[in-house]
Amino acid sequence: MASRSSRFKPSHRGAHPSIAEELAAKAAEREQAGEDILYLQVGQPSTGAPAGVAEAIARAGEVSPLGYSSASGMPELKERLSLQYKELYQAEVDPGRIIITFGASGAMLLAIIGCFDEGQRVALPQPFYYGYRHAIATLGVECVLFETSMENDLQPTVADLEAIEGEIDGLIVASPGNPTGSMVSPARLKELAEYCEQRGIRFISDEIYHGIVFDDETPQSTACSYSEEAIVVNSFSKYYSMAGWRLGWMVVPDYLEASIASLAHNLYLCAPTPAQVGALHAIDCREELDGHVERYRRNRDVMLNGLPSVGFDRFTAPHGAFYLYCHVQHLHEDSVAFCVEMLEQAGVLAAPGSDFCPNTGQHYIRFSYAGATEQIEEAVHRISRWRGGA
Ligand SMILES: Cc1ncc(COP(=O)(O)O)c(C=O)c1O
Repeated sequence: MASRSSRFKPSHRGAHPSIAEELAAKAAEREQAGEDILYLQVGQPSTGAPAGVAEAIARAGEVSPLGYSSASGMPELKERLSLQYKELYQAEVDPGRIIITFGASGAMLLAIIGCFDEGQRVALPQPFYYGYRHAIATLGVECVLFETSMENDLQPTVADLEAIEGEIDGLIVASPGNPTGSMVSPARLKELAEYCEQRGIRFISDEIYHGIVFDDETPQSTACSYSEEAIVVNSFSKYYSMAGWRLGWMVVPDYLEASIASLAHNLYLCAPTPAQVGALHAIDCREELDGHVERYRRNRDVMLNGLPSVGFDRFTAPHGAFYLYCHVQHLHEDSVAFCVEMLEQAGVLAAPGSDFCPNTGQHYIRFSYAGATEQIEEAVHRISRWRGGA
């Protein structure tokens, strides 16, 4: 659509469209023209909320208007999450330290606004979840991108932090990671959290993919176990299969409880109450949710069995989340052009690495295997045929 000229302009903060979104729009056009497209670029479960969530909300709605909750969230949900830290990690987290948010995205915004002033520097390991880079910059905080190595599955180490030029005020780590699906071991997470605490660097641990972990050799661990100064960000979008409900949470040090809750109140009053009621129910649906994790594991294995023989043989260890981050420089110089070719010639859409890493992203693509197993099997079949395999 031709844009209308106006004397009113967007703010200097601007917006940064993602390349993956642009490719998804291209794919949708092809689909409308009758092509059958498999969307493996999208990082969300293909399943809905667990059974019983809608009924739990309907029941709650009979006895309450489901109006605003307190800014930090429903006490029952905070207490249940606190108990879950004990059940899953043997970690003591007082319910008062938990703030319910608009997804992990909302939690990260509160963490950045609540902990850093303009001009302070927050380090983000490359590759990263692309939203964070722009959110940090939009808030006037400097985002310091730094290198990680394939040897460490593109996850950060203390040595990587020490190589950053100048002082940093914060660090964000995601394990399992997006786009990598790789994990930081409990020992390394402890080392990073302690290093940051000792140097006055605010450690922010994004644990949104916890629960979607495949091997006992690479267990998940929470930064709550290692540092009371750490901020932990989590969400109901992934393991709990409730991406559209826009609900997450954060754990903050006790001296930040009141200020972060006030910030939440000032910015948006509270997270949606029906979603909080639904989430309280979803926490106890582990059997159904673990069934999804089993499917992700099967999907991952379909990819690992089918893709290496047709050239996709270099990737970070896929121990969690639902991503395979493949190095494709030997197949094409430019991952955006490569994704376009794959879309046009195989009818499969993957995400080019450029959204996740300005330095090396053109050499990587990310497959998401969150869909149905038949879809992943068909995608591997089409890619193999395209690359001259089966
Ligand atoms: C690593 C990571 N953090 C945060 C988010 C944002 O998630 P939410 O839906 O909870 O806002 C995503 C979404 O894909 C993600 O991959």
